[in-house]
Amino acid sequence: MRVGIFDSGKGGLAALMRFKAILPSVDTVFFADEENAPYGNKTERELKALVRCDIERLLSLGAERILIACCTASTVYPFLPEKYRRASVPIIDPVARAAALSSRAGRIGVISTEATKRSGAFDRSILRLCPGAFVRSEAVPELVTLAERGFSDENMSEYASSVIKDIQSRFRGSDIDTLILGCTHFSYFKRSLEGALGVRVIDSAEIGAKELIADIVRRKRK
Ligand code: DGL
Repeated sequence: MRVGIFDSGKGGLAALMRFKAILPSVDTVFFADEENAPYGNKTERELKALVRCDIERLLSLGAERILIACCTASTVYPFLPEKYRRASVPIIDPVARAAALSSRAGRIGVISTEATKRSGAFDRSILRLCPGAFVRSEAVPELVTLAERGFSDENMSEYASSVIKDIQSRFRGSDIDTLILGCTHFSYFKRSLEGALGVRVIDSAEIGAKELIADIVRRKRK
């Protein structure tokens, strides 16, 4: 079976690396839509059109299952025509589920792109699983740019450190015990965020890779 993975850019690569670390021999095609990046500043209408094209492209390359390795793109999954929904694996609900399981106090922070924050997709998904939970969402588009420029936990700049400090101060006093990296690009800063906020961090790139694996296994059993 051939699988496809896509994102606007490097966030998808983080998911691909995690997927390959577990299932190295699966035939995989990867697409980064660098021409239309970033996705985080697009409207819902633009995102729907882009995600349809991305899925169509991977289907035409023979992918049977497609991971939407992008939280922003996954927010429009419920509004896609059935053909595209049937072929693809979105990541909002599995990430929300991991956070709901991780949080003891039901106090969860989410950092994401502007489009994901505006959609309210994580808030809805968490509250469905955990009614009464406290959810605080912050948009951090700067981390997308930094990841695209090659910065990461291993290669921090002064500016990258100041962005992490700013996130820390935005969550000060909110008493969260779990933070969702609600954008796969943020995976490159997981350790820095864990250190700065001192909470459990849920990595959407990792959860996405595991969700694709679970999907493949489910299909094999059928
Ligand atoms: N990696 C994408 C996500 O998970 C978004 C990055 C972008 O703004 O293009 O939301």
